[in-house]
Amino acid sequence: MRDCLEKAKEIALEAGALLRKGQQEGFTLDRKSSSIDLVTEYDRLAEKLVVGGLTRAFPSHGIVAEEGSSSPCRHPDGLRWFVDPLDGTNNFAHRIPHFSVSIALYQEDEPQVGVVYDPLREELFWAQKGEGAYLNDQPLSISDAPTVEHSILASGFPYDRHHDAVDNLAQMGVFLKKCQGFRRFGSCALDLSYVAAARYDGFWEFKLSPWDLAAGLLLVTEAGGRISRIDGSPVGYLTEKNHVVVSNGHIHQEMLDLLKPTLTEAHLRTGERVL
Ligand code: IPD
Ligand code: CA
Ligand code: CA
Repeated sequence: MRDCLEKAKEIALEAGALLRKGQQEGFTLDRKSSSIDLVTEYDRLAEKLVVGGLTRAFPSHGIVAEEGSSSPCRHPDGLRWFVDPLDGTNNFAHRIPHFSVSIALYQEDEPQVGVVYDPLREELFWAQKGEGAYLNDQPLSISDAPTVEHSILASGFPYDRHHDAVDNLAQMGVFLKKCQGFRRFGSCALDLSYVAAARYDGFWEFKLSPWDLAAGLLLVTEAGGRISRIDGSPVGYLTEKNHVVVSNGHIHQEMLDLLKPTLTEAHLRTGERVL
């Protein structure tokens, strides 16, 4: 797996440099599922770079990528990459300096390698299963916040929130009344990296895509944290829309207890495994 990790890091750095250039030079903009779901030409250019690099290096590996260049797995061990070429598109489009490239390798449902790169701060978060999590060359370890009251929590809001009831408002209200601070920075991959780096203590969100989560989940567990579905059950496998809680472990049960009364049947539905 070491060669896969090193290749993923190399490609994330290249894609990050491309995104930096996009911020400097300007870009065209489009809309996807709704008027607030943006995609820029750099989402597509970065995906082309990442998927091209992975395909050349590992032709039999499967790829699940956000902007449509996915390919099936032909590897006997079920190796698949999850790629979010630009996580934080809204920030990128509005020139808010907070976005990332996220690349993860899974063997069936088990994360093996996770890389998240913030090209503006030049922060490369990476992890390999069983080998720990790192920021550049510094080992990461989760925070020791003992309760939600001592915690900075982060979350985000889905693009269909104008019309769908699973909009995260009730949950945000509950946590806001309890926690030390709340942040919505707009890149899920960096949110999870920040939990791994003990900058945040906990995170929850609904309807996250597999590429939003795949790398960050490994970073958190390798840094000693805990991940679960919104009802506390194990994540198990990634679906198209994942409802998750991620934390330093110490505040996990308290987060689940606070969430429980806010959850409806729609929040508890688990979709099909992403193939
Ligand atoms: C989004 C970001 C955001 C999260 C959204 C994601 P995108 O990804 O990760 O933090 O709240 O749910 O869709 O669209 O910028 O790749
Ligand atoms: Ca994303
Ligand atoms: Ca994206």
